[in-house]
Amino acid sequence: MAVRTKRSSLARRIRQLVDQAPELVAGAIRARLLWADSLGAKCLSLLVRTPDLAILVDPGASAMQPSFPVEESERDELKLAALTAIADCAAQADVIAITHYHHDHYADPSEWPMIYRGKHLLVKDPNQWINRSQWHRARELFRALAKELAGGGEELPLGPPQPVAPRSASDLFPEALREDFGSYSERRRQVLRRGEKRLADLRRFWESEEWVKPKVLGRTSVEFADGRNFRFGGTTVRFTEPLFHGIEYATVGWVVAVCIEHGGKKLLFSSDVQGPTIEDYATWIVSERPDILILDGPPTYLFGQLVSRVNLDRAVKNAVRIAKMLPQTTVLFDHHLPRDPKFRERAQALFDHLASASRASFSTLAEWLGCRPLVEVLTDGTTLEAQHAPVPSTRRPP
Ligand SMILES: [Fe+2]
Ligand SMILES: [Fe+2]
Repeated sequence: MAVRTKRSSLARRIRQLVDQAPELVAGAIRARLLWADSLGAKCLSLLVRTPDLAILVDPGASAMQPSFPVEESERDELKLAALTAIADCAAQADVIAITHYHHDHYADPSEWPMIYRGKHLLVKDPNQWINRSQWHRARELFRALAKELAGGGEELPLGPPQPVAPRSASDLFPEALREDFGSYSERRRQVLRRGEKRLADLRRFWESEEWVKPKVLGRTSVEFADGRNFRFGGTTVRFTEPLFHGIEYATVGWVVAVCIEHGGKKLLFSSDVQGPTIEDYATWIVSERPDILILDGPPTYLFGQLVSRVNLDRAVKNAVRIAKMLPQTTVLFDHHLPRDPKFRERAQALFDHLASASRASFSTLAEWLGCRPLVEVLTDGTTLEAQHAPVPSTRRPP
């Protein structure tokens, strides 16, 4: 079907493809990436099932940026299709995880209460290691949850602020600190100094404002997950300490990544580490040796504006290292990258490596579905389907 001749059915057609998606399987862990940027909405929403629980990670989606090559109404349709796909799967989930408070990672409870009702929420700590805009958004989310899920009128549970332990660059990214950046080194020192100052300002903010307390809202319980392990029978859900959302001291804040383990098998969800850009995070991902990896890429569509050549090169080099060091891992590499028609060119070293290694198990979600990323289809006028080698049959469900 030619996408350009039947634009109005695009969101519906993609939804059909998503519904037929092969699961990612590792032992008794079964997972489905419900939507991602390669399907035309900003999203990295994942449903994972083990014999002990079903967990829905980052149930949100946003419309693509204005430069994405479709009409605004179609961008909204694709976002709605993503959110509907997520809401339709939410009934299966016992636990909802939210890795940070960007709108593409959680849905508004006043519009999508069914996603949250009766669930156990494991969320990014809204009180510390969070930038100001996410600090406010988290409080809006909890207010909306209280209103929707506790019958309205419930006050946000607040308590006095707590001290936040200082952490230095050598605690936070020792490996990246040792990297040689050549002629960029002096500029990098300035960037890091500015970042340290911003972090000190934020710490004073965290330590001076009231903290939200985890609480039960109606039948929905909320726990702050940063750096914690949660056991559900034979399944462990392990959250990292806060990680920078991209580069060191990124102004956009922090995320938590998630590992889900059962029966000696492991799925790792990176959240928004952007490549990763920081070398320490690539080393950590490799050291985890996950069987399934959901990895986000660098936002190449912001190249030359918010993303510099140095940091784009770092992100691509780190993704290549992960691809080389985890040859047996099934990797879905999506989010940020397929917002940009030039993403293959801008991350060329990665795609050169994947081609030379004949690596089919490292792809965007669209390619996992046997399609091409929508941004490419829309810019070169070809079709959505059957342009990519199918995923290895051993990875398809029986
Ligand atoms: Fe984000
Ligand atoms: Fe995101």
